[in-house]
Amino acid sequence: MKHIFKQGLEQHPTLVLLHGTGGNEHDLLSIGEIIDPNASLLGIKGNILENGMPRFFKRLAEGLFDEEDLRFRTEELHDFIEEAAQTYGFDKNNVLLLGYSNGANIAGSLLLTYGNIYQGAALLHPMVPMRQASYPSLNQTPIFISAGRNDPICAMPETDELIEILEEAGSTVSSFWHDFGHRLTAEEVAATKQWYQQTF
Ligand code: MLT
Repeated sequence: MKHIFKQGLEQHPTLVLLHGTGGNEHDLLSIGEIIDPNASLLGIKGNILENGMPRFFKRLAEGLFDEEDLRFRTEELHDFIEEAAQTYGFDKNNVLLLGYSNGANIAGSLLLTYGNIYQGAALLHPMVPMRQASYPSLNQTPIFISAGRNDPICAMPETDELIEILEEAGSTVSSFWHDFGHRLTAEEVAATKQWYQQTF
């Protein structure tokens, strides 16, 4: 997958950065640097193009995901992160996911597919990526969620449903809400950093 890697200090985690629709592997680098200036950063670009806009998986319509593709792309991304750990020599057991919008949705899918394999995750404006009868345990995986009360893409009840699913899987979920729709705000980034510093 197209990506960029920035080496950080040893012992610090690697932040895997997953952009929103229309973004690229560079989009969240500055946010990763704010959250932990000493972390390694792995920015990844989604393999799907929708009308020229990069994404991490296909959708049939706004908010209607192509589940088969989502599962395939989730496995592809998981395998890519493991390969990147070997290529760049970072500890695959010390990885956090940081995703915005479409990137938060594939991050959610990684969590709900693989369970406790990441140190933690920050999902900025996520939706419920998939609905299953049961999910693997996330009891070792703290998760931060930020959302807009008036987000036209990720509605409040869906965010609440995701929080419930993650908590039922055993995760400790911290949430931050604002009134600026789907926008990623400076306040939200500051809240993500505060959660990160208090949790890791
Ligand atoms: C998605 O398709 O993942 C969500 O609708 C968010 C987005 O528009 O990227």
